[in-house]
Amino acid sequence: MKVHSAIEELILSYDEIVEITKKLANQIKNDYDGKRPILVGMLKGCVMFFAELMKHLDMDLEIDFMDVSSYHGTTSTGKLIINKDLSRDITGRHILIVDDIVDTGITLQGVLELLKERGATSIEIVTLLDKPEGRKVEGIYPKYIGHTIPKKFVVGFGLDYDELYRNLPYIGVLKRSVYEK
Ligand code: IMP
Ligand code: MG
Repeated sequence: MKVHSAIEELILSYDEIVEITKKLANQIKNDYDGKRPILVGMLKGCVMFFAELMKHLDMDLEIDFMDVSSYHGTTSTGKLIINKDLSRDITGRHILIVDDIVDTGITLQGVLELLKERGATSIEIVTLLDKPEGRKVEGIYPKYIGHTIPKKFVVGFGLDYDELYRNLPYIGVLKRSVYEK
């Protein structure tokens, strides 16, 4: 397979991502079938994983999206900036947050607090990638994790560096020379 010249190491090929995603979808179907969950995708990084996951979820579900960023101020929790909010009320609903990668966990901590306040019945997280060594807050344990990676900067399959590389159909470690210019 031909890999982009900005990539130093391939982490997951497209075929591997599909296999991983199918396994996650099986677990999710077992847990949520009949509950009509709302899959909440965290833009923009979630897009490819979100679409892949949905394809393999043979059950009733709804989808919605949020685009948030966390403002890393002086507090350890950070402050949530909502660029795009959910379009529907989530009171009494089962929410499954779909994310590309969990690193510090700061963004998701803010989102979890917000969705709890809004009265969701349950909230869980599914993430394609987890970087547990990067965690800076407690209590962020995604229930469904596709693949655990070391503390390296990765791109592709929705993940970007400076808005580039989201379209790569695989996940790879970005060459340091790309961001140390
Ligand atoms: P957090 O640090 O857990 O709040 O991560 C928030 C977001 O940062 C993730 O959802 C990604 O969009 C982005 N991010 C974290 N690590 C990486 C990476 O290695 N590559 C690209 N984006 C990343
Ligand atoms: Mg993200």
